[in-house]
Amino acid sequence: MPNIPPPFIPDNAPFTTEQRAYLNGLLAGIFSSASTSVVAASPPTSLKIAVLYASQSGTAETLARKLAKELKARGHVASLTSLEGYAPATLAEERYAVLIASTYGEGDPPDAVQPFFQQLCLEHFPRYQDLSFAVLALGDSSYEHFCKFGIDLDHKLAALGAIRICDRVDCDVDLDDTFANWKSSLLDRLDTNTAALPTTISTPAVVVAAKPASIYTRENPYLAPLIERRALTCDVSSKLTMHVAFSIADSKLEYEAGDACGVLPENDHSLVSEIIDTLKFSSDVPVQLPKSGTTTLLHALTSYLQITRLTRKTIQAYATIGQCQRLFELLIPEQQSHLDKYTYDRGLIDLLHDFPGVLHDPADLVAMLPSLAPRLYSISSSPKAHAGEVHTTIAVVRYRSHNRDRGGVASTMLAERIAVGDKQPLYIQPNKRFRVPTDATAPIIMIGPGTGIAPFRAFLHERRATGAKGRNWLFFGERSAATDFLYRDELESMRDDGHLKRLDLAFSRDQERKIYVQDRMLEQGAEFYRWLQDGASVYVCGDASRMAKDVDATLHTIVEQHAGLSEDSASDYIQKLKDEHRYHRDVY
Ligand SMILES: Cc1cc2nc3c(=O)[nH]c(=O)nc-3n(C[C@H](O)[C@H](O)[C@H](O)COP(=O)(O)OP(=O)(O)OC[C@H]3O[C@@H](n4cnc5c(N)ncnc54)[C@H](O)[C@@H]3O)c2cc1C
Ligand SMILES: NC(=O)c1ccc[n+]([C@@H]2O[C@H](COP(=O)([O-])OP(=O)(O)OC[C@H]3O[C@@H](n4cnc5c(N)ncnc54)[C@H](OP(=O)(O)O)[C@@H]3O)[C@@H](O)[C@H]2O)c1
Ligand SMILES: Cc1cc2nc3c(=O)[nH]c(=O)nc-3n(C[C@H](O)[C@H](O)[C@H](O)COP(=O)(O)O)c2cc1C
Repeated sequence: MPNIPPPFIPDNAPFTTEQRAYLNGLLAGIFSSASTSVVAASPPTSLKIAVLYASQSGTAETLARKLAKELKARGHVASLTSLEGYAPATLAEERYAVLIASTYGEGDPPDAVQPFFQQLCLEHFPRYQDLSFAVLALGDSSYEHFCKFGIDLDHKLAALGAIRICDRVDCDVDLDDTFANWKSSLLDRLDTNTAALPTTISTPAVVVAAKPASIYTRENPYLAPLIERRALTCDVSSKLTMHVAFSIADSKLEYEAGDACGVLPENDHSLVSEIIDTLKFSSDVPVQLPKSGTTTLLHALTSYLQITRLTRKTIQAYATIGQCQRLFELLIPEQQSHLDKYTYDRGLIDLLHDFPGVLHDPADLVAMLPSLAPRLYSISSSPKAHAGEVHTTIAVVRYRSHNRDRGGVASTMLAERIAVGDKQPLYIQPNKRFRVPTDATAPIIMIGPGTGIAPFRAFLHERRATGAKGRNWLFFGERSAATDFLYRDELESMRDDGHLKRLDLAFSRDQERKIYVQDRMLEQGAEFYRWLQDGASVYVCGDASRMAKDVDATLHTIVEQHAGLSEDSASDYIQKLKDEHRYHRDVY
């Protein structure tokens, strides 16, 4: 069978959309006659398509699974593979690849996919001339580097000679419609191509395992009764962290230790009323929401729209309606740092006060605001130890700026605005890469300062419930032992009865010099390295901006010092830990 390249005109070819459509049609015709003459007796053709995903918390994986299923239903042969542990050389063997990729960190791939992308970036010569591909990038536009990994992946593949089946699409958190539109245009393009290709499938179909999906999702959350709420910090503490538990006993919801739960929050009612009053709108005026249809302005601002943070899009829309010169100046790309400064600690209410008299139509207000996104919380319970319950550990976000006390939408709602017995919409967000080892005898080292303790409380209860004999070591840190030692009684009792082989504590503000978890790791470097040599898995959870980076650097230092390795060899050692699924991070 001759190796006939897929007949697509690349999207970056110098043609208009109409010209490209015409040429693609022409090519399809030519190839389809070629195919009838060359392989007249071919059975109905289908394409062998690799569906690849780069996922950390499962969204890209779920979409990839759906796509693979649909491709199969259309007669194609779809394989479903994670880019974790995937080699660029394997991609060169494919003719069709569809990649769904999420972004993390500072526009990076998910942790586990970094080796794939690093290797791909080392490739300099076109080696994917036989590959046709499509990328769906997942991200969240509230991050500075929106969808950057998907964008980089798309550019790199094109630079290496691969041809786009269709243009890349970048999905924001509200991704259902964007995914559906991208999928339908992809399937159309593939269908056109199927008719044209003389290729029959020689490789056996890869079965896409059907996973029983929960009936409760982000779009259809479970209304879970709040069953317990108590402060984990003392009254006199400088911060408030709460234990918040829900019942899922009457649902069929399932989760595993390490998973997170998504909470659909409501905005503070007093802030919503203040916004409506400031604008002199009526609460019950009907407004139209793209996905939820018609509702009242009060309901839209309470449950569907983000009012506490300002985005560039919101400022742009507001400036346009009000012709606000000062805002237009902030929107000039060179003024980004000034725009960031303005939006950093202000919300919609500040915009309305700073630039009054702009909005006269509630529809304009609704159209300029982004959707209110669910917030994720690591689950701090184990289904084996806390049957029918989901526990969370919530740091309450509060701060004051521009003469106003402000609060995080979800954390203040969970801490104050809902009462025991109230039903809270939530869903489970699986985190398949963050699990206790399947080997019950393997040691684990958990590093979780602050709310980073949450999944480790789950792990410890899980390992106790299953009778896992592996040694457990926890590094925990907070501001002060007297006021912020989260789950103190439980942890000390686990240490006393030996379930926690080691509990190392770092209370940052109990002495003049800050002491952090990584300082304790360094102090215990020799023992830490011994545990690694004994096969321990390392888990890190909590703050991504500084802690996770510092802990990672400390891990490198420990390996260098105690294995006597150079910087590069220590990096190789840690990469091997990752490859062996023994270094996991769940950071936010
Ligand atoms: C996988 C994952 C797991 C998580 N697990 C947990 C967990 O176990 N426990 C937990 O508490 N959180 C956890 N989080 C974080 C959580 O999802 C929320 O982001 C957090 O609770 C804040 O949400 P909020 O709605 O209360 O605040 P938001 O309304 O989202 O407000 C937070 C925003 O307020 C602004 N802000 C905050 N402080 C200041 C300040 N001083 N000055 C100016 N602006 C400020 C910042 O823009 C900040 O992003 C997790 C996140 C992820 C992604
Ligand atoms: N914007 C804010 O003002 C604010 C405030 C609190 C939390 N947060 C965020 O909210 C989330 C949850 O916070 P949290 O309650 O879990 O606690 P956290 O803020 O992560 O603090 C937990 C402990 O970690 C310490 N810490 C600070 N920097 C560290 C570093 N580089 N390495 C190791 N430890 C470090 C803290 O010390 P010190 O605090 O004494 O330095 C504290 O003792 C995090 O993402 C955090 O970034 C934001
Ligand atoms: C800690 C964290 C960091 C993130 N960083 C970015 C980012 O820099 N840029 C972006 O566009 N999206 C970012 N996102 C959003 C994710 O890419 C988005 O939620 C995606 O749908 C997650 O897909 P996954 O579940 O397959 O991992 C971040 C999300 C989290 C939780």
